[in-house]
Amino acid sequence: MSNSAKLFKRACRVIPGGVNSPVRAFNSVDAEPVFIERGNGSKIYDVDANEYIDFCGSWGPLILGHADPDVLNAVTETAHDGLSFGICNPLEVEMAELLAEMVPHVEMFRLVSSGTEAVMTALRLARGYTERKYIIKFDGCYHGHSDCLLVNAGSGLLTQAVSSSKGVTDKVTSEVISLPYNDCEQLKQAFVKYGDEIAALIIEPVAGNMGLVKPEPGFLEFIRQLCSNNGSCLIFDEVITGFRFHPGAYASLTNVTPDITTFGKIIGGGMPIGAIASTREIMEHLAPLGDVYQAGTLSGNPVTVAAGIATLKKLKATNPYPRMTKLADLFATTINNFAAEQKLAVHCASYGSAFTLFFTDKQPLTNLDDVKQCDTKRFAAYYRHMLSNSFYMSPSQFELNFISAVHTESEIKAAATCVIEFLYSSNGKLTDKEKKRSYTGCHGWEILRVK
Ligand SMILES: Cc1ncc(COP(=O)(O)O)c(C=O)c1O
Repeated sequence: MSNSAKLFKRACRVIPGGVNSPVRAFNSVDAEPVFIERGNGSKIYDVDANEYIDFCGSWGPLILGHADPDVLNAVTETAHDGLSFGICNPLEVEMAELLAEMVPHVEMFRLVSSGTEAVMTALRLARGYTERKYIIKFDGCYHGHSDCLLVNAGSGLLTQAVSSSKGVTDKVTSEVISLPYNDCEQLKQAFVKYGDEIAALIIEPVAGNMGLVKPEPGFLEFIRQLCSNNGSCLIFDEVITGFRFHPGAYASLTNVTPDITTFGKIIGGGMPIGAIASTREIMEHLAPLGDVYQAGTLSGNPVTVAAGIATLKKLKATNPYPRMTKLADLFATTINNFAAEQKLAVHCASYGSAFTLFFTDKQPLTNLDDVKQCDTKRFAAYYRHMLSNSFYMSPSQFELNFISAVHTESEIKAAATCVIEFLYSSNGKLTDKEKKRSYTGCHGWEILRVK
C-alpha cells in the first residue's frame, strides 16, 4: 500500500471523507487522493516520492509557483515577530493601499480570511446598502459555501432557487434566484419580476467553477446596465479572476465597473485570505462606521498580509502575464488542432493562464447546461492518465487549471504531449505512421512519444 493510501485510510477515520474540502477526495475522477508533502516552483512531491508538474496551484493562489523565495522571506520574517495580534498592524494598511493602487475603481478594502467570507459579507453589505432582499446569481458559478449561495436554479423559470446542500433552509434560498450564465432574456424577465427588491447580482465575470466559461460579448455590459437602471449592486466575484489575468482586477480589462468586488486566493499568495472592496460610500456602511456587521479574529493577519504584499509586488514588478498566456495558448492550440484534425470530442478552453479541457464536441460552452453534456467518465480516465504520468491537474471536469509564472515551455509541451497520448490511446485507431504525420502538423515539435 502506498504512503498516500495509508494516510488516506488514517484520514478517513478522523476527517469526514478523509478530506478538509470535498473536491480533494478525487471522487469524480474515480481515484484516491495523493498526499503532498512539499512543493517547489512548478512541482509538487507526494509522500511516496512521486514528482508532479502542478497545474492546480492550490486552486489558483500560487501564481508565482510553490515556495516562491520572496513570498517565503516575507512570511518567515514576519512570523518571527509574532503570528497574530488581533490588534491593528501596519502591514494591513500597506496591503489595502497597495490593493487600492492596483485596483483603481475601488477606494476601500476590508480584509477577511477566505473567499467565502468575502462573498458572504459582500451580499450582506449590498442588502444593507440597498435595503432590499433578493440576490441574483448564475447556475454553475460558485461563490463559496455560505448558505444563501449553496443553491441551484429552481424547477421553473425565474422561480426562487433550491438548496444544493442539506441544512440550508427554504427561507434562505427563497431570497435567491439562480439563472443560466450568458442568458440576457431570463435576466431581463427576472428584473421585471423582482425589480426593486433585487439587492444585488453576483457573477464570476469569467466563470471558473463550471470549468472555463467566458461571458459572451456584451453580457457584462448588459448586466451592468440592468443593475444601474434598477438600483441594484453589481458584485464581481474576483476570488479567482483577481490578479489572474493582469496585475489588477479583471474588471479593469473590461468597460464594466462593478459596485462591489470580492477577492481571495492570489492576494494571499497561498495564505488564507479574502477581501471585500468598493467605493468609500458603500464601504462605510460596514461596522464600525455603518450598521452592516462584519468581524474576524484573524482578519488582516500580519503573516497572511505579508505573503499577499510580496506576491502583489512581484506580480507588478515582473509582469509574468504575457508569458503565462503564451504558454496557455500553446497548450490549448496544440490540443485543439489535434482534436480538430482527428475529429475528437474534446476541446481545451483557455483564457489568460487558465484552462479547462472539456470532453465534448460542443463549443463554445456558454452555460452550465452545455458543460453538463461533457463526458465525465472520459475526463476521469484522462485525469488518471495525467496523474500516472506526473501531471497534477485539478481533479474535476468542472474546474480550472492554472499556469504559473514558473512553468516552463518544455513542461507545457510535455503536458500537451501527455494529453495527446491519452487521446491516441483512447482513440486507438491510428498507425504509428499516421501518428507521426499528425503530431508534427501542430507545432513542429515531436508531440507524441511513440512507444
Ligand atoms: C469565485 C469564487 N468565489 C469564492 C470562493 C470561495 O473561496 P474560499 O474557498 O477561499 O472560501 C471560491 C473558491 O474556489 C471561488 O472560486
